[in-house]
Parts: sequence; structure tokens; C-alpha cells
Amino acid sequence: MTTVSASAPGKFVILGEHSVVYGKPALVLAINKRFSIRVSRSKEYKVNGRPATQYNMSPHMMYISNKIGTSPVSIFVDGRVPSGSGLGSSAALSNAYAAAISAIEGLPTDRESIARLAYEAEYSAQGRGSPMDTSASANGGGIALNVPYDEKDFLWHIDNAGNSWDISRIDVPEMSFVIGNTGIRAATAPLVERVRKYRESSRFASDIVDEMGDVALDGLDAMRRNDLEELGALMTYDHKLLSILGVSCNELDRLVEAALPNSYGAKLTGSGGGGCMVALTDRPDRVAKAIRSHGGTPYIVKTGVPGVTVRNCSGRGRRRPRKKKPKQE
Ligand code: PMV
Repeated sequence: MTTVSASAPGKFVILGEHSVVYGKPALVLAINKRFSIRVSRSKEYKVNGRPATQYNMSPHMMYISNKIGTSPVSIFVDGRVPSGSGLGSSAALSNAYAAAISAIEGLPTDRESIARLAYEAEYSAQGRGSPMDTSASANGGGIALNVPYDEKDFLWHIDNAGNSWDISRIDVPEMSFVIGNTGIRAATAPLVERVRKYRESSRFASDIVDEMGDVALDGLDAMRRNDLEELGALMTYDHKLLSILGVSCNELDRLVEAALPNSYGAKLTGSGGGGCMVALTDRPDRVAKAIRSHGGTPYIVKTGVPGVTVRNCSGRGRRRPRKKKPKQE
């Protein structure tokens, strides 16, 4: 193959961010905001037509290229997942790039292989974190980590840095979610580090992390019973626990409060410190309006979307030489 395109979705977390880093349960859904990448064989590395540098080629991409030992490629990136906003943009990028480079090099592109490679890239770039985002983006649909599951739903198992995660697919009932973006970008690693320090230095904080894991398990039960009242209430409770851990901010709290009158529940999603919140609602238009009038950008997201996809485009888009018009004397 000489040209390959791949894409992978972003995600939001129903319950379990931060506590999942310590092997606690979490529930995550992929969303219809994707990262697309096209790679073609080339004489030198290029990104969107320009020579690749440390500024336009992310550490995730560098890790994957080095790990696979690919020959140079020209890369076109089209990212529709807002970065630094808790929607798993770096996981989507890592999955799409891992799939495209694996395909061009003739390596396996099944979801599990891509999820593993993308997680390695995320971990090496961030120096910490769980395989939650990369697995959700690779598989698509809905996934759970470290919950009881039926054998048929098992996806893969990942161990790292003394923690281990069993990743399984989940059936997701018809639900509608609205995401509200504060517009404040916040990097994941410092927030994960803040929680780590707090958890290690305080029994109170480590109890909260444990509690968040129990809340995620209760949330899975509520989802299986299609009890949206209960699931929403657990999401709002989880937001309070995340706030106590110090990863919310005024802007996130404001959007959560704005969404609540028309929602079953709402909470921050992802690492926090800015970025996005998510509301479970059956009045998405009203919630979107409330988010907008409180300074946020709403996205009424679709779930149940495919995970990483890869397509061979060799031979497509190649221009046929045009016949020259005869010069008129
Ligand atoms: O903010 P995001 O999209 O990078 O999500 C981070 C999720 C955390 O649970 C906070 C970290 C992790 O690696 O699981």
C-alpha cells in the first residue's frame, strides 16, 4: 500500500475518570467526533505538506513511527476532536496514526493491536494514565474497564505500572448526552499527577478514589436496568467527588449547574481543570441552550459510533495528466 487513511473517535466518560488510573471501574462511550489521518509513502517526513518538526509531529506520532520503524511518510491530519478538552483527542490521534502506519507497513490493524500500540504511545507521551481513552477509541461503541462481564463481551486485558485493566464492551441503552466545552484547555498529565499526589498523601483522598470506583459499578447496574434517573444522580455525585479531588473549576461547575434543571445528571468528563462536562438528558436542545447561555459551547453528540477504521486509498485521487490545449495563434 502506498496511501492509507484511518480515523478514530473521541470519547466521553460516563463514570470513572481518574480512579480508572488506579485500576478502578469506568464506563466510557465513543462519540461522533473523529480524528482522521492519511499517510502516503514519501522521501521525507511531512505533516500537512510541511517538513515534520517536533512542533507539528506530536510525541505520540513520533513514538509510533519509531516503534514500528517506518520509512518516511507524508501525513495529512484532520482532527475534529477538540484538544486538551477531556474528549480523548490524543487517544484518537494515536489510534488513527497507529492504524495508518501499521497498514502501510503491512502490520496487523485489528482493534486490539491498535489499542495496545496507541496506549503505549499515550503512556510514553504523558508518562502516566490508563488505557481507557485508547481502548474506547479503538473499539468504538461503549466500553467498561474492570467491571464484571460476560465472556462474549471481553475485549482485551492490559497491564502497566502495577495496575491491570480488563476491558469489555457494554450494551448501551438509548440515551442522549450533551457535552459542554468550557473552552479552557488543560493538559491531562498535571491533573493526573495532582490526584496521584493527593491520593498518596491522604487517606481521605484515597477513600474518594475508591468511592468513585463503586459509583461506576452502581452506574453500570443502573444502565443495565435502563434507570436513567439513578445513572444521572450517580453522575452528579461523581462530579462532586471529582471536585473534592481538585480537578473541577468554576467554569465546569457553572456549566454542570446550568445543565442540571433539564438533565438526569451532569459531571465533568476527562481529566478536568477546564475542558468539557457532559449531561445525560432527554431535553438536549434545552441543555444545549443553557450551556451556551452560560458561556460554553454545546455539542449534542451521537454515540454507538465505530472505533478505529482503516482504508487503503492507493490509486485514489491520483490526477490524470491533462491534455494540453493547442495554442491559438
Ligand atoms: O482528559 P482526557 O481526555 O485525556 O482523559 C483523561 C482520563 C483520566 O482518567 C483522567 C486519565 C487516564 O489516563 O485514564
